[in-house]
Amino acid sequence: MDERTRNLQTQRRELIEKVSDNVVESARPLIDPDTKPEELQKFSREVTDRIQFEANVAFSEAVTRFAVRKLEKQVSEAGERMFERFGRNFRFQHMLMFLSVIFLIITGIPLKFPSVGISRFIILDIFGGIQNSTLIHRVAAVGLIIVGVWHLGFIIFSRIGRRDFWLMIPRPQDIKDALQTILFFLGKRKSGPKFHRFSFIEKFDYWAVYWGMVIMIGSGLVLWFKEQFAKGIFDIAREAHSDEGLLATLAIIVWHFYNVHLNPDVFPMSYVWWHGKLSESDMKHHHPLEYAEIIEAEKQKVLAENEPRTESAEKQP
Ligand code: HEM
Repeated sequence: MDERTRNLQTQRRELIEKVSDNVVESARPLIDPDTKPEELQKFSREVTDRIQFEANVAFSEAVTRFAVRKLEKQVSEAGERMFERFGRNFRFQHMLMFLSVIFLIITGIPLKFPSVGISRFIILDIFGGIQNSTLIHRVAAVGLIIVGVWHLGFIIFSRIGRRDFWLMIPRPQDIKDALQTILFFLGKRKSGPKFHRFSFIEKFDYWAVYWGMVIMIGSGLVLWFKEQFAKGIFDIAREAHSDEGLLATLAIIVWHFYNVHLNPDVFPMSYVWWHGKLSESDMKHHHPLEYAEIIEAEKQKVLAENEPRTESAEKQP
């Protein structure tokens, strides 16, 4: 803390005490003369504490609202404060994953429906033959395996990863939220549920991908190195890979695309995957419980850092 801030804090403390004295003094003519001095002293302390509390709240509000650099806040072009939702590490994981998955889908699904015209067009005309498309499928599969290992490391070794993984774990509240959402959509509730960092929709998305990756990588490796496995295992793996591949594709198109692209709230798309940030209004709208928690923590931090050391307790009324 620099000299000027220290001086300002001292001045604030003196001002609080002056205002408090003033309040008590101006009330004195109206106070019963038989009132015990200890009671008046206690009252005076309470007035000081109350004024000090209000001053601290107003101070922290000023800081959270306007002290841009101090709290390392970012502000959008529209002048709104921006909150970091996803850091660089997580965004790169997501980018590698969606690039890999896009190629896995466009080189995998045509193998499931080889006689359909569009499958032939993709394999023959776009990729120039089955050898090329299966090679691309394997290169993209390596990308997905890298993401799987990377993400596992992230949720074990990174503090943010561990925190987010913990918050991703489904809880009974998610079932209540899902029911409330359905009732809200049916017009039976005035408002939808309020979410924390991850809504039940986002948790569903995450766990579908998590589960999907385990199945697709596991079964894909069996297909890839089929000589190492018994025919029965190969058959099961092929069935699982083929059906889960279609399910994953549909889940991405129906669930994920609706929630991050087609939902009128975010249409044409949420750019969080690119810059990782969410505006203050989006935070309030989509993650109000997390927003309230962040603001409260910031206020507490500012209050703790700027708590004036008052000697009001010793002050006479
Ligand atoms: C989102 C991820 C993936 C999707 C949607 C997907 C989709 C598919 C589909 C639909 C097939 C055709 C199955 C059939 O014949 O009915 C296939 C084949 C295959 N997939 Fe995947 N796959 C994915 C990930 C992977 C991964 C991670 C690996 C490897 C670890 C892999 C390796 C293979 C192999 C080896 C084949 C057999 C065809 C070939 O030789 O290329 N796939 N995939």
